[in-house]
Amino acid sequence: MKEITLFDKTFKTFIPNEKIEEAIDQVADKLNKDFEGCTDIPVLLCILNGSIMFTSELMKRLTFNCAFASMKLSSYNGTESTGEVKQLLGPTCSLKGKRVIVVEDIVDTGNTIVALDRIIREMGAEDVKICTMLLKPDMYDKDIQLDYVAMEIPNAFIVGFGLDYNELGRNYKDIYVIKEQ
Ligand code: IMP
Repeated sequence: MKEITLFDKTFKTFIPNEKIEEAIDQVADKLNKDFEGCTDIPVLLCILNGSIMFTSELMKRLTFNCAFASMKLSSYNGTESTGEVKQLLGPTCSLKGKRVIVVEDIVDTGNTIVALDRIIREMGAEDVKICTMLLKPDMYDKDIQLDYVAMEIPNAFIVGFGLDYNELGRNYKDIYVIKEQ
């Protein structure tokens, strides 16, 4: 599909599924190299809802033993970041003493990542690595290192492959960008 309409907004294809899959292959290779032969059990922490599709594609490609947990936060309303991050659910397992790999859909201002890093460390995690499918480098102004970034995009509002506009658009396998009316 070249265009989709979600409520009052129209979106056009931006990143086709094949490109997304290629980028996920590369980030999975990097994780596999870094965690190869690990004797602990790192936890993949899926940040709901946006990273559900990315996490499932990523997990299929990982070749080291890891556990899975999820957690839900919220900072977005419509097409704007509110700046205020709320912890809504989880994490679904203890992170104490664990190496945690946070799996995010997109890093925009970085407010969510900063809050996540603090919360996870306060829970006693031994280490926190950040793995994100997308990064908006022009918007990100925080100090936390983004260890694994699958794709960088300009500052535009996108949907698809897990990402939503007011809860619509998550199911599409390509990524779409908003069409300015
Ligand atoms: P940040 O806290 O500003 O970095 O925003 C991160 C969160 O905002 C992501 O986990 C997404 O849920 C949401 N978000 C940021 N940019 C977009 C976008 O372009 N489309 C849909 N959701 C987005």
